[in-house]
Amino acid sequence: MTIGVRAPLVLADAFGRVATDLRVSLTDRCNLRCTYCMPAEGLPWLPGDEVLTDAELGRLLTIAVESLGITKIRFTGGEPLLRRSLEHIVATAKALRTRAGTPPELSLTTNGIGLDKRVSALAAAGLDRVNVSLDSLDRVRYAALARRDRLDAVLSGLAAAEAAGLLPVKVNSVVMREVNEVDVVPLAQFCLERGYQLRFIEQMPLGPRHEWDRSQMVTQAEILARLRERFTLRPAAEPRGTAPAELWQVAPDASQPGGRIGVIPSVTAPFCGACDRTRITADGQLRTCLFSRTETDLRTPLRDGASDAELAAIWAGAQSRKAAAHGIGEPGFVPPARTMSAIGG
Ligand code: 5AD
Ligand code: SF4
Repeated sequence: MTIGVRAPLVLADAFGRVATDLRVSLTDRCNLRCTYCMPAEGLPWLPGDEVLTDAELGRLLTIAVESLGITKIRFTGGEPLLRRSLEHIVATAKALRTRAGTPPELSLTTNGIGLDKRVSALAAAGLDRVNVSLDSLDRVRYAALARRDRLDAVLSGLAAAEAAGLLPVKVNSVVMREVNEVDVVPLAQFCLERGYQLRFIEQMPLGPRHEWDRSQMVTQAEILARLRERFTLRPAAEPRGTAPAELWQVAPDASQPGGRIGVIPSVTAPFCGACDRTRITADGQLRTCLFSRTETDLRTPLRDGASDAELAAIWAGAQSRKAAAHGIGEPGFVPPARTMSAIGG
C-alpha cells in the first residue's frame, strides 16, 4: 500500500473559484460618517471583548497564509488606522510565508485620515500598498458627504503615501447621483496628474437601510460618459482577470500626462464569477462574500481551543459553500444585515 500525499488545503468552492485574497476588518469603528455607509450618529459598535485581539488575528492570518493558500491580505475596517496596533499586525503578517515561500502582499483600505503620521512606520513594517477613499476634492462637498470637514487630512495622507513609496497609490471613489457626479472629472484629473490609480465604484446596497435605490445608482456607463466628455479613453490592454476594476487608458493631452482609470461595476457587471476573496470581520466571523446572509463563527472555536487544523477545516468548509453570485439584480435579493463598515470593504 502506498501512502497517499494529501493535496494541500485550499479555499475552493463548488464553482471552481479558489480564494487567495483575504480581507480582514480590524475594527468596525470609523472617524467619518460617509452618508452611504453610516448614519450621522454612527452605529452600535462591537463591544471590545468581541473584537479579535492581535494574538487571535495573528493566529488566523497564519492559518490563512500557511495552511490555506492565501497570498494577499488587505486590512480594512471601519477605519483600520483606528487600530492602534496596526503596525504590529502588519509586521506579523509580513513575517509569514506563503506556500511559494514569499511574504504575503499586504495592502490597506483607508479613509486616509492620520495616514501621514503613520505611513512610514507602516511601510517599514511591510505594507505594500494603500487604497485611499476620496469621493470629492471640493471641501464643502467632501464635508457634506463624509459628515466631517477632513479633506485636508486625506490629501496629506495621500501625499505621504506617495512620499513613502507605497506605489502605485490607489484612490477609490463611490459616485452618487446629484451628490458627487460633478467630481468625476476633477478626481480623474487630480489622480492622472499625480500618477495615482483611480477607481470609481458603483454604489452597492451596503449602507444604512433604505438608502440604496438601483434606479438612483450612477452606473459604469454614466461614469464613462462623464469621463469621455473630457478625456479620450480606450480599454486598457490586459484582461480583467480576478481584479474587479475594468481598466481604461486615458490618452495624454496638454493638461494631463495620461494614465489608467478603473471602474468597478459591482452592480451592473458583477465579477462574482472570478471572485478570489474570503473575509473576516473584526469580531472573527468568516464571510465568503460581501453580501453573505450567513457567517461562520471562527472566534468561538478559536477561543475554545480549536487546533490550527480544525480552524483551517472550518474555514475551508465554509468557503466550499460560497454562493455563486451576490444576486443584487435578482428578484428576492436581500442585502446583508451588516453594513459595509461592519463587514470590511
Ligand atoms: N458601495 C460601494 N462602495 C462602498 N464603500 C463603502 N460603502 C460602499 C457602498 N455601499 C467603499 C468605500 C471605500 C471602500 C472600503 O468601499 O468608499 O472606498
Ligand atoms: Fe468610514 Fe469608510 Fe464608512 Fe466612510 S465609507 S464612514 S470612511 S468606513
